[in-house]
Amino acid sequence: MNVTDAVRQRYSTRAFLDRPVDGALVRELLELAAQSPSGGNLQPWIVQVIAGERQAGLKRVMAAKLDAGEREKGEYNVYPPNLWEPLNARRATAASQRFQATGIPDDSEGAVEMQRENFAFFGAPVGLFFSLDRRCGPPQWADVGMMMQTFMLLAVERGLATCPQMIWARWPKTVSTYLEIPETHILYSGMSLGYADEGSKWNSFRTERAPLSDFATFYEI
Ligand SMILES: Cc1cc2nc3c(=O)[nH]c(=O)nc-3n(C[C@H](O)[C@H](O)[C@H](O)COP(=O)(O)O)c2cc1C
Repeated sequence: MNVTDAVRQRYSTRAFLDRPVDGALVRELLELAAQSPSGGNLQPWIVQVIAGERQAGLKRVMAAKLDAGEREKGEYNVYPPNLWEPLNARRATAASQRFQATGIPDDSEGAVEMQRENFAFFGAPVGLFFSLDRRCGPPQWADVGMMMQTFMLLAVERGLATCPQMIWARWPKTVSTYLEIPETHILYSGMSLGYADEGSKWNSFRTERAPLSDFATFYEI
């Protein structure tokens, strides 16, 4: 597979097969993903990988929190407040695609159901968590994002699938306590990793992108 194919084939996968992922493979993918560029070669990413009972324990903790109707305050805004156009329409379209494909009602109860799926890693056997030192700024956050994308493309090349999950950052205390992330670090995003359940309705749609002319300007080229 070439990079173009990996870019085209990657999508946020929200249903996975009950098939384990080899730990050696995950290590290899992370080592390769760390070849990502970072400003000044700071390599600010900190990654935690959980599977087995360690992952099951976190799933139980989150399910209990949702059952109890608990909430937690995130440490950063997943989206800017009062999201403007065209960004708001793009977010709304992606969300409504998810609800339509799954048949989950697009209301507050449906939102909780969506959270339950997220916090069950959509059935994926591996969960990853990406954090960084709190002293880091936007350039380093972007570096971590690039590393995540490199990892996701490499995963596609190996027949794996992923879903990046910022939703975990809405529960920073719970996740940081469970994963023993030190207070000096901030959780940026989680990620589900496994083999896609291609036939699932959860994976039955693809998101669209704005045309090139909407985001790029060319001068003398
Ligand atoms: C950093 C990041 C965090 C995300 N967090 C979530 C999440 O918590 N739950 C989820 O279902 N999708 C999440 N997504 C997936 C986006 O909704 C998805 O990337 C977007 O709709 C484009 O669709 P595609 O990834 O299938 O191309 C996240 C994506 C990124 C890049």
